Amino acid sequence: MRVIILDTANQVAQYAADLLLETVRKKSRPVLGLATGSTPISTYQQVINAVQAGQASFKNTTTFNLDEYIGIDDTHPQSYRHFMKHYLFNHIDIDLANTHLPMAASLDETRLVENAQDYENAIQEAGGIDLQLLGIGENGHIGFNEPTSSLRSRTRIKSLSESTIEANKRFFADGEYQPHLALTMGIETILESKHVLLLATGHKKAAAVKAMVEGPLTAMCPASALQQHAKACLVLDQDAAAQLSLKDYYVWCEKQRQELT
Ligand code: PGA
Repeated sequence: MRVIILDTANQVAQYAADLLLETVRKKSRPVLGLATGSTPISTYQQVINAVQAGQASFKNTTTFNLDEYIGIDDTHPQSYRHFMKHYLFNHIDIDLANTHLPMAASLDETRLVENAQDYENAIQEAGGIDLQLLGIGENGHIGFNEPTSSLRSRTRIKSLSESTIEANKRFFADGEYQPHLALTMGIETILESKHVLLLATGHKKAAAVKAMVEGPLTAMCPASALQQHAKACLVLDQDAAAQLSLKDYYVWCEKQRQELT
């Protein structure tokens, strides 16, 4: 795992935006894996700024999001489709027909299982994901792969853990229906991405980051599965990196890389 520790959350966002933009510029038909949550919002803003300044175009880009809540329509303000439109898609030149999230509005299990398989197929047909953006939950989840998720899991129905429901409560009004189920890419789906970029900022993520990087490979910390990925890059601010035992080593490694041309 490559661990990059930057001073501020803003620098983390800039680093991530630069990598997303580089992928979009380099590839003729880029395929990006995208994430929701608070962490990537400032990354998306930097991407929007670059696109609006004419520095990049998403015309040929296809996207696949990690997950979607089950049982709410994609026009619902708390749906992840709505989130993506609000924070990114509506402000860049992407063709909405090329933006994908798992189809999760139905409560019919058979239909949801079919939609999950369709999602896997669509990723394959697009040629796989070039760069997958990830956040990490305080409990170590990636996507909605909660602790004890199979490390071989694929896109499927997942029950959210109590801590995730609690952490996401802030987005729902008092008394508003909050889904407890999601359709999420599986851990193996994520591991098949050619390049993974995980962002973590703030002290609340420090314990999960420590478990992901320096703990054992275990379904109890789904993000630890990234230890098995050949091209996983973790970009952290100082607060999220605070519990890492080998922090000085990671900083040293990045300094050494600069000597390479
Ligand atoms: P956050 O969520 O960016 O809102 O902290 C990350 C996650 O739960 O994966």
